Amino acid sequence: MTSRTAKLLLVPIIGPIYLVAQSLDFTYFRDRVQPVFLKQRPGHARCISCHTHRSPPLEPLSPGAATWTEEQSRKNFAVWRQFVVPGHPLKSVFLRHPLAEVAGGDRFHGGGKHWQSQEDPEWQVLAGWVRGRREGGAVVRVLQSNSAGDSIAVIDPATNEIVGRIGDIEVPHGVVIAPGGERIYVTNEARTTLDVVESKTLAVSKRIPLSGRPNNVAVGNDGRFVYVGIRQGSGAVDVIDTRALTNMKSVPVKGEIHNVYVTPDGKHVVAGSIAASTISVIDVATHTLAWTLTLNAGIRPMAFTKHPDGGTKDIIVQLSDFHGFALVDFRTRREVRRITLPDPPGEHKETQGLQGSPSHGMAITPDEKMLWATSKYYDSVMAYSLPDYKLLGVVKVGLHPDWLTIPPDGKRLFVAAAGDDMTVVVDIATRKVVQRIPVGAVPKRNASGVLRME
Ligand code: HEC
Repeated sequence: MTSRTAKLLLVPIIGPIYLVAQSLDFTYFRDRVQPVFLKQRPGHARCISCHTHRSPPLEPLSPGAATWTEEQSRKNFAVWRQFVVPGHPLKSVFLRHPLAEVAGGDRFHGGGKHWQSQEDPEWQVLAGWVRGRREGGAVVRVLQSNSAGDSIAVIDPATNEIVGRIGDIEVPHGVVIAPGGERIYVTNEARTTLDVVESKTLAVSKRIPLSGRPNNVAVGNDGRFVYVGIRQGSGAVDVIDTRALTNMKSVPVKGEIHNVYVTPDGKHVVAGSIAASTISVIDVATHTLAWTLTLNAGIRPMAFTKHPDGGTKDIIVQLSDFHGFALVDFRTRREVRRITLPDPPGEHKETQGLQGSPSHGMAITPDEKMLWATSKYYDSVMAYSLPDYKLLGVVKVGLHPDWLTIPPDGKRLFVAAAGDDMTVVVDIATRKVVQRIPVGAVPKRNASGVLRME
């Protein structure tokens, strides 16, 4: 038996964590993690200078070589994977040992503290490996904005940990992910701009001036245009050209705009006005107003169901001072039904600080079989079956639940509990709260999807 085979056979009996280390990517380790071992950080010796003769061992470089060969890299990979717990950077001694204790690291490392913060891009590279990131690959993330803060938390839905933050956006309002995942668009109320954030760096690369103070934002299905609801003046939807990164056109609509959406088929932009109680529908082909519908209350968040041919069926509309939602038939342009959320018996009814909106936030599961809506009255989210709108359950989540998002796998619902400064994670199948994540001041709008971080 060669010494190498012996080593491999020994692996499973050293400890249970080694058995689950299957999701770690070798290419990512070779091309992204290994350079960290070779890099000279100011004031520090390089990892390789000590760890060629210490545990965890690194293969010595061949004379004159700048990096490891493929075979040496595989040996390094086989060893270093044993010092991490897949999915959990902070349970991984590899990531904790050289990280400052104040940042969540271990107390002592004979080789010193190479990173002072988990936000350090280099540490994030290592964390990416532990979280199963693949070279050139994409990751699913939940983005949670803080309406009274100045940042957006980036959450890994596999672990429910905050893995990054988009900073430097005071009073972020809406947040959407570009269809390709390379960018994130955020409306910035303090500066009256649409801020373009690069997924790779989570940094703002451009701020595009808007025609007035923005509220929510939506992106077209092909990513070519972004639509921003303007809350000032007589009301408009600004159309942003995502190639030129300019404000191309301001489409006048009926009433100042709070929320804006693109229908699932990508053919229409639907904007809602609280003040004018009006839904304005814009034709994407011409970027002109196609039709409007006025209801008897302010228009709040909306969601959309589809016909079998993909065309828009109903607009599900939440309304000012209404604990429920209305259904508007998109083809006949009429309100067809209103559904009131239940009053769970014996529950305290919260009436403070509702901001005229006892039910504000909805999400439809990717299989289109379930609608979730929030109830600020009862600190809850409520599930309805689709297409028949039967109540399936009520889940208590925390004070002032606001926006909702469901990542593409459809397993979990992420609820912004604005009054608790938490994002609350609900398991959709069991309808149970599985995690509460402290995210910052008054979390509201959120989004989820694939981000291309490399
Ligand atoms: C100056 C020499 C030196 C440098 C440079 C150094 N280390 Fe270490 N490392 C040690 C020593 C000594 C130990 C054993 C004592 C201890 O646990 O701190 C150790 C322990 C470790 C352990 C813990 C192993 C275990 O069994 O628990 C890890 C992980 C580690 N180092 C990673 C790194 C990484 C990653 C780097 C580069 C960022 C690095 N080290 C740089 C000397 C060094």
